[in-house]
Amino acid sequence: MTNKREQLAGWTSLVADSGDLDSIRTLLPEDATTNPSLLLKTAQNPDYRHLLGEAMKFAGQLSPTDDVTWLADAFATLTGEQILRHIPGVVSTEVDARLSFDTAATVARARRIALLYRELGVSRDRFLIKIAATWEGIRACEVLEEEGLRCNITLLFSLEQAIAAAEAGATLVSPFVGRIHDWHVKHGTAISDPQSDPGVQSVKRIYQEFKSRGLDTIVMGASFRNVGQIEALAGCDKLTIAPDLLEQLMADQGTLQRALELPESSNVGPEPPALTESAFRYALNDNAMANDLLADGIRRFVADQQALERLLQEPGA
Ligand code: E4P
Repeated sequence: MTNKREQLAGWTSLVADSGDLDSIRTLLPEDATTNPSLLLKTAQNPDYRHLLGEAMKFAGQLSPTDDVTWLADAFATLTGEQILRHIPGVVSTEVDARLSFDTAATVARARRIALLYRELGVSRDRFLIKIAATWEGIRACEVLEEEGLRCNITLLFSLEQAIAAAEAGATLVSPFVGRIHDWHVKHGTAISDPQSDPGVQSVKRIYQEFKSRGLDTIVMGASFRNVGQIEALAGCDKLTIAPDLLEQLMADQGTLQRALELPESSNVGPEPPALTESAFRYALNDNAMANDLLADGIRRFVADQQALERLLQEPGA
């Protein structure tokens, strides 16, 4: 009998949501995702302390200034390069969330991340640039995809954010499950089972919309709080899962049912008009949960980015 992780891997590409190199080495996922919070944890882990000094050296070789953002990007890409030694697929590296409302600055920072990866000998097909699903971020994605830099659109809590990203040509979207779950619990919604979890339902809706419209952007469910949410999305293109939840799936010999299926045929009717900026902004504003979580997500990633920058600047780093 195969365990649930193996059964899941038969339908869904498994991604480690982690910056922990040892976990990634033992869990053997196809891809990995990082974010500022996960990178902060990596930087705080004494086992990876050497990466701080290496980042300092690497940034120093490339930047004539002591701009700490170079140091943070050097750390993110060095960690990404180390992760890639243990996976066959791609690693996602996030653009500084302080740039979430500035298209040109996001494009420039993404190009810098690509430059750092190139210096490390990592080709463009091995990483995704992770960008928050603001209107400005999605426009930056459009420019970057045109240049051959593939993007993962993150902090995604609504169908409209997902559609706008797909229409911009994003390689992948990361609809979050756990943060939607947390928001509903905080607002008094009783969630009796994973099927009725609003976070799970959000990913299902996006998956069904993409597949029925024939949109080829990859749907990768993210941000899980328990294995029930993961099992309820078995069959999704990709799922990015924290190491402890991947381990729980490995320890479970029960039978897993596929929950998401590709439709027999896609809807080949006329394409609806692309989502306009005003329609996108109105829909986001109208969705209190998505609006709150996007703003909160940017604040949280900025706070962790700043903590990472402080750590990287500590004497002896
Ligand atoms: C992945 O890409 C996301 O950054 C991650 O799943 C967020 O998870 P969290 O809600 O547990 O922070």
